[in-house]
Order: sequence, then structure tokens, then C-alpha cells
Amino acid sequence: MNPKDQKVLVSTFEKEVYEGLTAFPKYLSSKYFYDEVGDKIFQQIMALPEYYLTRAEYEIFKTHKTEIIQNFDARKEGFDLIELGAGDGKKTKVLLEELQHKAYNFTYMPIDISQNAVNGLVNTLNVEMPEVKVKGQIGEYFEVLDRLKHLSNRKKVVMVLGSNIGNLLHPRAIQFLKKLCSAMHTDDLLFMGFDQKKHPQKVLDAYNDKSGVTAAFNKNVLARINKELQGNFDLDKFMHWETYDPENGTAKSYLVSKEKQTVDIDSLSLQVHFEAWESVHTEISQKYDDDIVKWLAEASGLKIVQSFADKNNDYKDYILTKA
Ligand code: AVI
Repeated sequence: MNPKDQKVLVSTFEKEVYEGLTAFPKYLSSKYFYDEVGDKIFQQIMALPEYYLTRAEYEIFKTHKTEIIQNFDARKEGFDLIELGAGDGKKTKVLLEELQHKAYNFTYMPIDISQNAVNGLVNTLNVEMPEVKVKGQIGEYFEVLDRLKHLSNRKKVVMVLGSNIGNLLHPRAIQFLKKLCSAMHTDDLLFMGFDQKKHPQKVLDAYNDKSGVTAAFNKNVLARINKELQGNFDLDKFMHWETYDPENGTAKSYLVSKEKQTVDIDSLSLQVHFEAWESVHTEISQKYDDDIVKWLAEASGLKIVQSFADKNNDYKDYILTKA
């Protein structure tokens, strides 16, 4: 392309799509799965028989809610419960009900990148639990962390559920945890879900459901490029492919081009060539064990206080504090 004709790429989406699709091997970030359509597909994923993560965490909350919330505010002095990536809050409601029932003094602050999700959650909570104080916030993870210090001036319990941290490679996860740690005071807590290593087939099935919902989720990044960047991806010419490496615990999603093809992305003035069976890496979903979580915590200035598992040991929520 003649530099004179080169488009100025303004949005992060434009920049990252350009970078990822001109790289070798090609990649796109899974954060771009989530728009209004993607949020709905993710809701369907959470209800899939193969996707055990959500049910496992729900079971942990149902079984251990009393002990969990005792840890949050043992002296009942009052605290702010800040949830990053709150989504629809279905699991969180179990804890909120218990906190309310046991007369804890707290404010719930759900934070999500999706305005839709935050508004929906705040509205349902206002109806279902009118006594609970709720302050919703819109924002992206890393950016929100900068605001976190100033968000509250009493004890903070920060929750990151759903194994959301698993969508970050270890170095980025450490960066994230370090930032969280620096926004915390001595008494503050981090309550975090980490999906555990298990039978490799069970992991593979969770990201490769029979009904094709995960495939549609993965392809939503291409649909977004079509919609938002005037692309002409033919979604049928790509297939969803999942791998799981039991040695490092990493599940990886790809989109694989079923044939040699060229795709135009007009907003980027870009033509992307795909060889037959060329891949685009889109997502990692990291699986953990106690040693890996301990290593991540120590590398970030944190320590594990306690953990809670579901009955199959498929999934664990950890309480962490400053080391
Ligand atoms: C949000 N995140 C933790 C999910 C996961 O399990 O990695 C996203 C997801 N991707 C495919 N299925 C679910």
C-alpha cells in the first residue's frame, strides 16, 4: 500500500484487527467476541451442558456462602464489594442474598465493559433486592484498575469470577494481579475463580459443544469485523477449532480457513489472504492447579488465604490478600 493511501486507524478495534490479521501467524483478541450479540451467545454458553464452569462456581457459592462472606467482613465493619466483569450477576446474587440476610453493611459495585450488562444488572437488583445498595460502573479491566483506588475509602473485596483471568496469558495475568494488588490496602481481599486442570476431554468438550454455540461465539469476531469495519468474511468458510494441552493447562481457540481465500476489510483498506487451513488464533482459556495459582499470587505480591472447590474439584474460588 502506498503510504499516502494508508488509512489512519483510530479505534483500538481497528488497530488490533489490522495488527492481528497482518501478523504471521494470524490472531485476533477474544475481547472482541463481546458485543450485544456476543453477550447473548455467552449467556447460551453458560447454560450449555458441556460448559461446567458456571454451574461449578454456582455450586461453590450455594454450598460455602456462609464461610465465604464471613471472610469478606469478619468484624462486620462494612465494606465495598467490587465485581470486575459482572455480566448478568446470577452467581453473585447468591452471595448478595446471604449478605443481606445476615445484615452485613455493604455496597455492591458491579463493573463491566458492557453498558447493557451493567444497566440490566442494576435494574434487576433494584427490583429483586431493593435494600441492597448498588453502584454500577462501566469500564475495561485494566482501565478500571486505575480508578479502583479512588472508588471507595473503606474495606474493599474485589471479585473476578467465571475464571475470567483465564483469558489472559500468565505474564498478562501477573500484570493484572500486580495492578490489583497495588490498588489494595492491607485488609482488602481479592476473591477469584480459577478453572482447574481436569480430564482433557472435559475441557475440550466445554469449548467444542455439540450444538455449535461456542463456534458461533468464536466467529462473532468475524461478524463484528463485517459489521463494524465493512468486512466481507464468509463465516461458513471458517471453522472453529479447539485444542487443549494438559501439560501447560492451556485451551486455545482458533478459526481455520477451510479454503484459500481473500477477504476485504474496507474500513482498514486491507485485503487479507488466507491459505487453505491457515489459522487465526482467537482465545486462550487457561486451566490451573493450586501450585500455578500460588505461583501467580507470589509473583504479584499476593498470598492465598483460603480456597473453595466444587464437589468434583473442577473449579476453585480463592481468597487472596496482600502478601
Ligand atoms: C469468559 N471466559 C472466562 C470464558 C472462558 O471459559 O474462557 C469465555 C468462553 N469462551 C468460550 N467459551 C466460553
